[in-house]
Amino acid sequence: MSSTTTLSARASAGTAPAPALWSSRLAFILAAAGSAVGLGNIWKFPYITGENGGGAFVLVYLVCIAVIGIPIMMAEVMLGRRGRHSPINSMREVARQEGVSSNWKVIGWLATLAAFLILSFYSVIAGWTIPYIFHAVQGDLAGVDADQAGQMFGNLLASPVELTLWHTLFMALAVLVSVGGVRHGLERAVTWLMPALLVLLIMLVGYGMTTTHFGAAVDFLFKPDFSSLTAEAVLVALGHAFFTLSLASGSMMAYGAYLPKGVSIARTSLTVAVMDTGVALMAGLAIFPIVFANGLEPGAGPGLIFNTLPVAFGQMPGGSFFATLFFVLLLFAAWTSSLSMLESVVKWLEEHGIKRAKSAVFGGIAAWMVGLTTVLSLNVWSGFTPLDAFERFEGKTLFDLYDFLTANVMMPIVALLTAVFVGWVMKKASSQEELGAGTGHRLWLFVLRYLTPVGVLVLFLYNL
Ligand code: PHE
Repeated sequence: MSSTTTLSARASAGTAPAPALWSSRLAFILAAAGSAVGLGNIWKFPYITGENGGGAFVLVYLVCIAVIGIPIMMAEVMLGRRGRHSPINSMREVARQEGVSSNWKVIGWLATLAAFLILSFYSVIAGWTIPYIFHAVQGDLAGVDADQAGQMFGNLLASPVELTLWHTLFMALAVLVSVGGVRHGLERAVTWLMPALLVLLIMLVGYGMTTTHFGAAVDFLFKPDFSSLTAEAVLVALGHAFFTLSLASGSMMAYGAYLPKGVSIARTSLTVAVMDTGVALMAGLAIFPIVFANGLEPGAGPGLIFNTLPVAFGQMPGGSFFATLFFVLLLFAAWTSSLSMLESVVKWLEEHGIKRAKSAVFGGIAAWMVGLTTVLSLNVWSGFTPLDAFERFEGKTLFDLYDFLTANVMMPIVALLTAVFVGWVMKKASSQEELGAGTGHRLWLFVLRYLTPVGVLVLFLYNL
């Protein structure tokens, strides 16, 4: 990992008590990467890429990560480090330091609400990985074809009872760890999780190369065809940049609150973003060869990886073993992400005098209850599309709406407000104190002042 080399170089330069710096910076990178890498990379990125036509969408997504995502991540980590509280109270604290209205804490409120809503459906989707672990262990995936894989997934979605069971189990798992405080255990888990996940993805990409459709997948992902790019696709790409980097949800602010002074926010943010993007692209390269080789539909929606990966595992030697490992890792990746969503809520409750354990249980139960509506929207309520009156939301189930409203409406708004606050309201000297003065800082400020607000506003207008 590049961070390691940078760190050892720094440590040997002997500027500060090196070991402390080392572990803190690494600890933050691991926690932040654990938050960022999750279902967004492996489950969501491939299916929205499929739905939005491939290459051009991927390119826009990469531009959004680089130009808007990374600067916003820096801004959020910085706000967290200056505020040293939950996102809501960090915003209040920073506003106080800056001598401006405490109403800016609305950024924290909206972000926390987004995290809460995301957690509610994220837990349902993460739950899907559990029955697949069992399928893999029992050898059910051996030799399955695309039809059988589709049927297996269909059966799962059709059962509210089963979905509720896995949703409950997953949420319990998240709450359990959150009770102990995210910083314990998380570090160690993520240290092996990331490399293991990467090895498995490389294997899957290797498998993809053995199919005759690898070239088609590469073309699909990296050959942009701008004629197929819609305004909505651009908004989805932007929303996904926030979602996948855990921005605009308080998570990065909450983790930034634990970041020691003196650690480079720019470099750590860049490291996390690069890791996150790498995992997403690998997932795409793993999945699309299977999609094309089996004549599946790239735009098949949220079930995409569950309809495709079992086919690949079913055919490769040692498939049951690797499938088990893969779904376990996916579960872990989702779990470290869900912890960071809970963190914004739990920390805020704690600041109101509620004990950590109680806060975690309370936050978890509340999100679990909202999650039940997602469970039902996958079967019993699949015809319930309450916002049909608006063209934009036509045909969207409750789950579709939660997903769309969080990633494509709330998150861009939070990011816009954050950009305005940091770019225009906060004193330049304050952000310089955190990030250092110089060309980098000027460029960053320019992006937050002009590019992010204008970009988000133009996209909203186009999508009205
Ligand atoms: N970044 C996570 C993922 O890609 C999702 C997430 C969103 C986590 C918001 C925290 C906050 O799976």
